[in-house]
Amino acid sequence: MKNFISAHDVPDINALVKKALEYKNDPFKAKHIGVNKRIGLLFLNPSMRTRLSTQLAAQNLGMEAIVFNVGQEGWTLEFEDEAIMSGTTVEHVKDAAPVLGKYFDVLGVRTFPSLKNREDDYSELYITQFIKYSGIPIISLESATLHPLQSLTDIITIKENFTAKHRPKIVLTWAPHVKPLPQCVANSFSQWINAWGEADFVITHPEDYELNQEFTKKALIIHKQNEALIDADFVYVKNWSTYNDYGKIYCNDPGWMLTNEKLKLTNNAKVMHCLPVRRNVELSDEILDSDHSLVTQQAANRVWAAQTVLSEILQNNG
Ligand code: CP
Repeated sequence: MKNFISAHDVPDINALVKKALEYKNDPFKAKHIGVNKRIGLLFLNPSMRTRLSTQLAAQNLGMEAIVFNVGQEGWTLEFEDEAIMSGTTVEHVKDAAPVLGKYFDVLGVRTFPSLKNREDDYSELYITQFIKYSGIPIISLESATLHPLQSLTDIITIKENFTAKHRPKIVLTWAPHVKPLPQCVANSFSQWINAWGEADFVITHPEDYELNQEFTKKALIIHKQNEALIDADFVYVKNWSTYNDYGKIYCNDPGWMLTNEKLKLTNNAKVMHCLPVRRNVELSDEILDSDHSLVTQQAANRVWAAQTVLSEILQNNG
């Protein structure tokens, strides 16, 4: 593994999950592999879980992590090649990334999409430019279209919570929200569950909220949420804005919020969400505060996912 940007960078998801659970059982089993190595964690957007879990993961490996809040504290970066920089951007990534490549052994980069121009967002320009110009391995801490550390965590959490003999039925359901959110988590979860290949995967959302088929093509899409939920073992709740008429909110029907009544349709399903969550908008108190909820376990598992990816990168890039 040279970079960690999507499921395509991972030859064997189950091997990563196994390693992550070994770290969970013994966090310091590889406490020397990162000694004298540094990771720079660049945040162009806010974060709690990704920032702290990745710092903890690096420390568990003996590695130093330095956080840089580019969005608040750094020079405003330009990402377009051949840009005439007479506007608000101060420094080109072509100049900044090689410097960071000299300071650090690995870079983690967190960006969000603009939600204004689909082609720009889906070109993943920010992450691609850091890969092109830094000269060191890049770990996505969430990009314009994907959130791979979250998705690896999600599969770890599903594996921990499923012991039955049958294939798990996993339902990704759209939920209401007050503002347009990226498609990253839903795209990434779909990509990883499809690549993993060990579940019956259903996606349910109102019409007009189709995701990019590149990520969802092996999933069954059902527009009636109650039908989709039948016999689900896991329900993953997430809002996303429209993909086709890009970055909009169309339907925001509160009837799409998951409740205990709807959970009765499932196979006593566990409920997942990446957090942060808008309580009683995206997901009800009665579920978040119940034994159905895996959200804290998911967030805690972010450490082991990050530690696994970091150790793979360190071992594969000397
Ligand atoms: N799930 C997630 O990425 O959380 P943060 O935005 O707090 O990092």
